[in-house]
Amino acid sequence: MKKTYLTGIKPTGVPHIGNYFGAILPAIEIMKQNKFKCFYFIADYHALTTIKENKALKELIFEVACIWLGCGIDPKKVVFYKQSDISEIFEITTIINNITPKGLLNRAHAYKAVVDETKEKGLEQDSLVNMGLYMYPVLMTSDIITMNTNFVPIGEDQKQHIEIARDIVKAFNKNYGNVFVMPTEIISKNASLVLGLDGRKMSKSYNNIIPLFESEEKLKKIISQIKTDSTLPNEPKDKNSTVFQYYKLFATPSQIQDFSNKFDTGISWAQAKNELFNIMNNYLSPMRKKYNFYKENPQLVDEILIQGAKKARKVAKQTLLLVKQSLGVK
Ligand code: TRP
Repeated sequence: MKKTYLTGIKPTGVPHIGNYFGAILPAIEIMKQNKFKCFYFIADYHALTTIKENKALKELIFEVACIWLGCGIDPKKVVFYKQSDISEIFEITTIINNITPKGLLNRAHAYKAVVDETKEKGLEQDSLVNMGLYMYPVLMTSDIITMNTNFVPIGEDQKQHIEIARDIVKAFNKNYGNVFVMPTEIISKNASLVLGLDGRKMSKSYNNIIPLFESEEKLKKIISQIKTDSTLPNEPKDKNSTVFQYYKLFATPSQIQDFSNKFDTGISWAQAKNELFNIMNNYLSPMRKKYNFYKENPQLVDEILIQGAKKARKVAKQTLLLVKQSLGVK
């Protein structure tokens, strides 16, 4: 039987090229291999810890869905759904709360970061912590175990969450028998590969991102603003530069070789940026077209997510039934 591969996308920001190479592209490659049952979902209830404005959340959910579909998620090959449509996930959350030691959650990085912030501000303990944040790892565990997940691809920052998920599964299975599948993380090395416009990690909070599907004009403008050194046009250029690094992401090996030769012999930054724009734009424009198609057809996106939820709920219902039987309530 095919193993299950699951990933959640939190709709808290507009996906950028760092997310594309770190999460979206690897997920699409896995889909294309046809080796796994793939569950890709929009973790909209996870976004509630930070996004409190309904219009913003609605737009972000739609945006993220269009981006994943634009990048090539095929709803026939992947179960693509919204977390909030699968009520079984939240029922299972309630159940596993009872075997989750509070101390386990006290140690979670995201919670501890807010605790530290609270201390720094001299505020009462936990006053900045909402229970959504505190319980985040339990909900994430439920996302995973409800779908009988074997593999979860994640960045380094999410590693602790999977460790917590495993602890919860271990505790549950020890008491109730082998009910949940033990998940394993797959750490994507690419995730931290893409640097932002300023050379730091690409992140919305650093304001240094390249959004995936900007218009050509906007993309050109962003590229023109990449900081460069003051070497003269005919002088060799630094291949650790942001321009070269971005070029490498989008180009074929032979294109990279050509570009590398130009960097050795001398190329103006203006020309280098122009070539970078062309290579990026060629790569992105078929996907941008698809993305725009979905943006213009919101009812189609809704329909895809509804159909995805139907498939996901089939699995979720089975899991919940098994869980209820193991608890003794059924
Ligand atoms: N916490 C993940 C993130 O911030 C999103 C997420 C929610 C997730 N549930 C998940 C990822 C389950 C993998 C599996 O990116």
